[in-house]
Amino acid sequence: MNIIRSESGLKDAWGHAFKVGAAVSPEVIAIPRSQELIKTHFSSLTAENAMKMAVIQPEEDQWNWTMADSIANQARQWNIPMRGHTFLWHQQTPEWLFNDNGSIVSASKLESRLEDYILKMTERYGDIVYAWDVLNEVIDEEKGTPQGFRKSKWFEIAGPEIYLKAFQMAREAAPKARLFYNDYNIESGEKLNVTLRFLSDLLEKGAPIQGVGIQGHWNFEYPDDHILRNAIEKFSALGLEIELTEVDISLYRTAEKEPLFTTPPEERLLRQLKRYKNIFRIASDYPSVKNITTWGIADNHTWLDNFPVRNRKNWPLLFDEENQEKGIVPVLIDTGLNLID
Ligand code: GLA
Repeated sequence: MNIIRSESGLKDAWGHAFKVGAAVSPEVIAIPRSQELIKTHFSSLTAENAMKMAVIQPEEDQWNWTMADSIANQARQWNIPMRGHTFLWHQQTPEWLFNDNGSIVSASKLESRLEDYILKMTERYGDIVYAWDVLNEVIDEEKGTPQGFRKSKWFEIAGPEIYLKAFQMAREAAPKARLFYNDYNIESGEKLNVTLRFLSDLLEKGAPIQGVGIQGHWNFEYPDDHILRNAIEKFSALGLEIELTEVDISLYRTAEKEPLFTTPPEERLLRQLKRYKNIFRIASDYPSVKNITTWGIADNHTWLDNFPVRNRKNWPLLFDEENQEKGIVPVLIDTGLNLID
């Protein structure tokens, strides 16, 4: 294949296997250096928050398209397809959604509100969004129902039936889009089993679902290669596509508070590099994996600075705080290109 090494970005190096994406905010996408990085390295974009219901429809009769439009219009201009994130989620939903004149909204009204939202979103962004996260995070195997459903307001008002309906509404509204279930920690343990059961059940009921989004909020020592391969194989066996939709590799163990690093330690950066490399390499072994998206571009803008520990600076992404390539980037590019050669 005719690719000039020095000019190749991540998207060229891995385009033979999958798209390489990034989540962006309207602020980040307006910065010239971010724009350069996006055009060089990424072949997919996700709105970090701008396509969530609390932003788009803060009141029943108020539609706020400004932020989502600013991302979608850039994506259109660059011809970069987007992941649409997300229709039904228990967080970042507006207050009014679950209420109706001071009482709890009925199931049928909640469904029609969801349908209206899906119709408006797909009408506005269907030309640039190739895949929608129809459902986000409806499984809670620890604190949920015996079948593992999260006890969210969606669930409590409308039951699990609304999950199947959401896929049907999305299919109706966007006949050509890829429709996804998206969640975190579903690559291992009981959550993997519960998610597999949920997805098999949806498929058996004829749900128009094409893929599963494994979010990938991981760290420098997790997941190991075996866990990742096992999850990809299990989801692929259901006939689903897989996208790693929100990858970031924390330099801390989950709630680690000591020591709090002021600069990223070399040793952990090296382990982070190895994780990224193995994730890309392993994913490329499976034709079912279609996209690896990082949850941000550079370490100057990451939600992990405040989660799960507030004010704990983290460096989970591919570019550094000055928007320069970290050591990972040339390694990933080389690894991808060598697979083509
Ligand atoms: C979840 C959601 C994302 C985002 C992250 C944290 O993974 O799916 O939209 O909110 O949490 O930034």
